[in-house]
Amino acid sequence: MYKKYYNFKEDPFNVTSDPEFFFSSSHHMDAFSHLLYGIQERKGILVVTGEIGTGKTTLCRTLLSRLDQSVKTAFILNPNFSDTQLLQLIVKDLGIEGVYKNKLALNETLNKFLLEQSTMGNNVVLIIDEAQNLRANQLEQIRLLSNLETEKNKLLQIILVGQPELIGKLNLTSLRQLNQRIFVRYHVLPLKKDEIHKYINHRLKVASQSKNGHIPVKFTSEAIDALYLYSKGTPRLINILCDRALLFGYANELTTFNDEVIYKCAREVGQTSSP
Ligand SMILES: Nc1ncnc2c1ncn2[C@@H]1O[C@H](COP(=O)(O)OP(=O)(O)O)[C@@H](O)[C@H]1O
Ligand SMILES: [Mg+2]
Repeated sequence: MYKKYYNFKEDPFNVTSDPEFFFSSSHHMDAFSHLLYGIQERKGILVVTGEIGTGKTTLCRTLLSRLDQSVKTAFILNPNFSDTQLLQLIVKDLGIEGVYKNKLALNETLNKFLLEQSTMGNNVVLIIDEAQNLRANQLEQIRLLSNLETEKNKLLQIILVGQPELIGKLNLTSLRQLNQRIFVRYHVLPLKKDEIHKYINHRLKVASQSKNGHIPVKFTSEAIDALYLYSKGTPRLINILCDRALLFGYANELTTFNDEVIYKCAREVGQTSSP
């Protein structure tokens, strides 16, 4: 709504997980290198956890946009399906053609594809987001997929991404075999306090029309302190509050935002600061 007023080409604080806006925070970069390492070394199963809104999905999309052509990928946004449907989705997302109705046919097709890709020197990555929703039988299915290997390497690298309860699920005794195969684990933490201002300016710059990188709005250091108080560094909450602030600025012809504005916006979105 305020895009034109500030001369933005896009809303800077959208809550979608657009990789164009990716900010290289220390934790996100760390997560990124763990994932790249696990993929390049073909280590099998990798797990990324983090609270809601810490940037897990954005991290996945950024990873997908940066992998080269020799890495074939499938990205499952939410695994709320039966295990056969899940396999069908994986096969489809990998770009394998044909209709496969049962698990046996699906597994055979997938196995053939993985061997072909391996012969061509390619790697294959499957990312499952919201993996805390996976049921035990689906996790068992995933363990079976991770069994596919040559003498040296795993044919399929699987990244399970989810909220912290995913860890509890993987610790169940019935899933011990899967749990033991997890090679990389990373827990994404919120932004550090001193990264918040840079994060905001980064998003404003990406959204800005201006070629010389001029940012049309300013958040005072008191505003940044208030943002930290309410968000504890969680990007999603920062976005919600900054979006509100810009809307308020548009209605009141403001381009500089102080802590008062942030307090007001936090009240409006029902955000309370907890110790
Ligand atoms: N490193 C980052 N750079 C830019 N924006 C980010 C980053 N991390 C999170 N965000 C933003 O925060 C919001 C929530 O991120 P998301 O990836 O959906 O979190 P999660 O999947 O952990 O719930 C999105 O609007 C996203 O663009
Ligand atoms: Mg997500």
